[in-house]
Amino acid sequence: MNKLLIPIDGSEAVDRAIQMAISICKKREEECHITLLHVVSIENFPNVGVSGITANVDEAVKKEGRKLLENAIGKINNKGIKIDAVLLEGSPRNAICEYTDKNNYDLIVMGNRGKGAIKELFLGSVSKKVLDDTKCPVLIVK
Ligand SMILES: Nc1ncnc2c1ncn2[C@@H]1O[C@H](COP(=O)(O)OP(=O)(O)O)[C@@H](O)[C@H]1O
Ligand SMILES: [Mg+2]
Repeated sequence: MNKLLIPIDGSEAVDRAIQMAISICKKREEECHITLLHVVSIENFPNVGVSGITANVDEAVKKEGRKLLENAIGKINNKGIKIDAVLLEGSPRNAICEYTDKNNYDLIVMGNRGKGAIKELFLGSVSKKVLDDTKCPVLIVK
């Protein structure tokens, strides 16, 4: 369990996933590598069609995404673990699975819920789809 992927969306559950990943790496930090992955969801803007506006929305959303990643990096810093951050564009559920399977991760550590509104459900749509689709082991953190 040396190569871990944490899909992040800025939710509280992700903070718990980060802490869980750090504890999995404990006492062998120098062997561990954590990738933080944020997917800028094109699904959020299906109707923005005018190209100039699309470019502006794109830039703003990507900037927000980079901020999320920097924030998350700050939560792991100085623990001796190798970290990298990846920003992708697309459908979060598909992008997370494709990236993980292509790059041979040992474990995905993710939140059960994100920033969605339906708090009664145990699993959000992204975590459910990742569980269904990836070949990689998944740890869902509540
Ligand atoms: N855009 C995204 N990029 C990366 N990871 C994400 C993204 N959206 C959700 N996730 C991951 O999926 C987990 C569950 O979120 P999600 O299934 O979207 O729940 P909800 O339906 O409550 O938003 C999050 O805790 C996070 O780990
Ligand atoms: Mg969500």
